[in-house]
This record gives sequence, C-alpha cells and structure tokens, in this order.
Amino acid sequence: MISWVIILTVFQAAAPQRESPRGPRPIPGRGDSQGPTPTPLPPEPTPRPEGCEKTIALQEPPPGSLVESIKEFMKIFAQKLEDEEYRGQIQITWSFGGLHFSQKQVVFSQFTTRRSFIRNLSQIKYLGKGTYIDCALRNMTHQMTYHYSGTKAVLFSVVITDGHVTGSPCAGIKAAADKARDQGIHIFSVAASSSIDEQGMNEIASSPIEVYRDNYIVMEIVDGRPRMNTDTIDQIIKVMVI
Ligand SMILES: *[C@@H]1O[C@H](CO)[C@@H](O)[C@H](O)[C@H]1NC(C)=O
Ligand SMILES: *[C@@H]1O[C@H](CO)[C@@H](O)[C@H](O)[C@H]1NC(C)=O
Repeated sequence: MISWVIILTVFQAAAPQRESPRGPRPIPGRGDSQGPTPTPLPPEPTPRPEGCEKTIALQEPPPGSLVESIKEFMKIFAQKLEDEEYRGQIQITWSFGGLHFSQKQVVFSQFTTRRSFIRNLSQIKYLGKGTYIDCALRNMTHQMTYHYSGTKAVLFSVVITDGHVTGSPCAGIKAAADKARDQGIHIFSVAASSSIDEQGMNEIASSPIEVYRDNYIVMEIVDGRPRMNTDTIDQIIKVMVI
C-alpha cells in the first residue's frame, strides 16, 4: 500500500530551474521505529505494495487558479498511478486519501479508491487564512499510522505547498516531518509554484533530498506563462514504483 499526502499552499517567489529526471532509488527515510518498515521494493514480480494515497491540500494566494491547477495535477497523478498497476505484472494496489489545509485541516478524502478520491478532490475549495504546515504534517501522520500501522503498506505522502508558514503551533515543520519519517512515511515535497521558501520545502522532504525534493513543482513559468510540470508527476511515480 502506498499512502500519500498532498498539501497545497501558495504565495509568490522565485523558483529553481527544473533539472533533468534522475532516478535514484528511494531509500527509507530513516529506519527505526518498531520492526521492519517496509521499504519500496525491488521490481520483483511479486504482489506487493498496495497504495494508500493521502492528500493534504493547503491554502494559497492566487487563490482560485492555483488551487484549481493543483487539483488537476493531483488528478493526473492519481490517474497515472493506475497505469502502473499493470506494468510489468507487478501488482500494486493503491489507496488514496487527502487532506487540505490552511490553519486548519480538512480531510477531503479518507483512504479510498482512485475514483472516490478524484471525485472528492474536485470538491476542494480554497480555505484561505494562514498556513500551518507542521499541523498538517502531524495530521497526515496520524491519519496514515492510524489506518496502516502494523501493515505491510508502503506509505508515501506528497505534500504540495510553498514552504511559507504563518505560524508553527505544532512544533515546527522539521519536528513534524521527522516524526512522519520515523513512522516510515516517505514524503515528497512539491512546490505549488515558483514562489517558495526552499528551506521550508527541504524540511518537509524525506532524505535523500535529491530524491524527495528534487525541485518538484506543479506550476512553473515557461516563456512568461504558467505551465503545469507533468515531468514532476512522472518523476515521483518512478521513485514510488521502482
Ligand atoms: C485532523 O484533521 C481533522 C479535520 O479534518 C480533525 O478532525 C482531526 O482531529 C485532526 N487530527 C489531528 C491529529 O490533528
Ligand atoms: C467524500 O466527500 C463526501 C462529502 O464531503 C464525504 O461524505 C465522503 O465521506 C468523502 N469520501 C471519502 C472517501 O472520504
């Protein structure tokens, strides 16, 4: 199983250039905690991870449009994961769940099928008012461990945000992210746009950072116009199914 979280947030800044795709193997964030945390598996023809996707959406400034773009991005992402199920006979079952956040958190989808997830994803509305990334990470960790602790599920979380916070009432990003990793959750840190606080983005990402942060971005600026970066989707999926 693969769980996954997406956090949406946005402001304005300047973004790093995309680099060409790279394909290092995902390494478990930080092994520890009880027992063997299942790590992403080798491409063996064995029935393996079922996925559980968790999405955390966050607040954002150019409210309307960016959130809509992120929703579209996530939809494409979920649809592409479907294709992977049949590839190479590796059976992967995905479960999806999502959390949208600002200062508060709204679980817009419990762990469910791709279809239900996409349906609920489409209903996300911009929350506005502040950004507490640490609390969102804590909530996501709670949701994932509550449902999947003790199982063989491989847990992935995709966090889409801008790295800027308006407060840290839940002990800060670093502590919250460390806790998630200690629970075996692999966190991808994806910039909503080019306006980001890179340090915040890096604190969210699991290690190695070149794999889990890697300048992932949803909406980049190309020739002065916003464009969805679908390479990011492909790159993340590659890391997940390797
Ligand atoms: C997570 O967010 C939900 C709201 O969707 C809330 O009911 C729940 O208490 C939160 N859990 C934690 C651990 O923050
Ligand atoms: C989808 O949203 C509806 C309405 O908000 C809610 O009742 C339902 O539980 C959600 N589905 C999942 C899988 O969370």
